[in-house]
Amino acid sequence: MKKLILILMMALMPLLLAAQQSNVVLPQDKGPDKIDVSAYPAALQANYKLFASKCSKCHTIARPMNTMMKRDEWQRYVSRMMHKPNSGISDSQGKQIFDFLVFDQTERKDKNPKAFFPALSDEEIDKLKKK
Ligand code: HEC
Repeated sequence: MKKLILILMMALMPLLLAAQQSNVVLPQDKGPDKIDVSAYPAALQANYKLFASKCSKCHTIARPMNTMMKRDEWQRYVSRMMHKPNSGISDSQGKQIFDFLVFDQTERKDKNPKAFFPALSDEEIDKLKKK
């Protein structure tokens, strides 16, 4: 009996994981998927690597790279992403990623806002999903 439950759970695993994936393409997803951080402070270059590996699990890494948010919005957003089931992001990693996003926002995005996309509301994302 235990074995049967185990087999069932294993069979359902891909479905459970798929439920976490973002199943919609946002405008931000089509932007560049790399940032030249060579002029960023060393600590932030390390945070960039963490960001690139952790925030690409459920959607393109281009998505956060090309989204404009204010400091408090990033704070809310990183915390929201962190608390999604199986995000694999710890509190301290979330803080490092947040530091990177805020620095990158002022350094790169705020200086050239036209190159990036405003964050979409949950309602706007829902509409795109229904298309
Ligand atoms: C567990 C899966 C998961 C992880 C990990 C994840 N995201 Fe997301 N992300 C989503 C989902 C789901 C959406 C909402 C869109 C959707 O429902 O497809 C989203 C949307 C976004 C958006 C679009 C926001 C908007 O309103 O336009 C940004 C920006 C974003 N994520 C940034 C991040 C960052 C930064 C990280 C790393 C800290 C991250 N994500 C990690 C699942 C995830």
